[in-house]
Amino acid sequence: MDILDKIAAEKKRLNAVIVSHYYQEDEIQDLADFVGDSLAMAQYCEKSEADVLVVCGVRFMAETAKIVNPEKTVLLPDLEAGCSLADSCQPAPFQQFKSKLNDPYVVMYINSNPEIKALSDVICTSSNAEKIIRSVPKDREILFGPDRHLGRYLMQKTGRPMTLWQGVCIVHETFNEKKILALKLEHPDADVIAHPECEETVLQHADFVGSTSALLKYSQTSPKKKFIVLTESGILHQMRKASPDKTFLEGPNDSGCACNECPYMRLNTLEKLYQCMRDGKPEIQMPEELRKKAYIPLRRMLEISAA
Ligand code: 13P
Ligand code: SF4
Repeated sequence: MDILDKIAAEKKRLNAVIVSHYYQEDEIQDLADFVGDSLAMAQYCEKSEADVLVVCGVRFMAETAKIVNPEKTVLLPDLEAGCSLADSCQPAPFQQFKSKLNDPYVVMYINSNPEIKALSDVICTSSNAEKIIRSVPKDREILFGPDRHLGRYLMQKTGRPMTLWQGVCIVHETFNEKKILALKLEHPDADVIAHPECEETVLQHADFVGSTSALLKYSQTSPKKKFIVLTESGILHQMRKASPDKTFLEGPNDSGCACNECPYMRLNTLEKLYQCMRDGKPEIQMPEELRKKAYIPLRRMLEISAA
């Protein structure tokens, strides 16, 4: 049996579904039962009737699946698949930061650890962040974390001042403004589309800013035929599949290579996906008390998103 057959057999044996983020390698996206952004993955996992959720993404995505589905087994092909944003925000320094403010309302990006979610009032993703910020009571001071670029972008969009935790995404921070301008000159017919985790100097050259799913949708519905894509290159697979007649160029970065791959996301491979299903590990586990606390702001996010 080849690896795809072996994965299919394990899926049947476990009554599992494979849920993938757009930043996974093409082969994983193609065999997944569902491919989406971090919000859609959480919503899909919440509704799933499978016994086992195999999350092909990073750890905070698998932890989110567990928080909304405590009774299900949640597997992640590589437990080392972290996120620079989640890593930047640890409970003790975060609590200290929070204590300096006047009882702030904490809006936390889903790219965070369960311990930080448990200290938050509401969670957001890049696709619902504006709606979430607008739902915060007007008289409350907002503490937003951990992504300072998304936070700054949201302040500009909503006009709402916020105190920002200073985390960054190591992938989106590498896009290089000068090289983007050069690429734009070379391709004046292209639209620049960017994820809000990019720096302000980069976002100012974007024709459209949005979450991974919003960028995908824009590329499908826009009359433009060419796009310079400023986010992780995994999304280009879905863009090319959805619009085979259009051209998608990877955004240029500081290192000179055109491979804008998230090193955490790309730890997951087909082989590790098969092995984790075969062995039933790595499995996401967390203390029930922590899960319950982290569930409260996550539930709030899901309710606001659905409204
Ligand atoms: P999305 O919520 O847009 O899928 O983004 C997740 C992420 O990790 C971006 O780097
Ligand atoms: Fe985290 Fe950035 Fe990777 Fe997304 S692309 S998982 S924000 S490190």
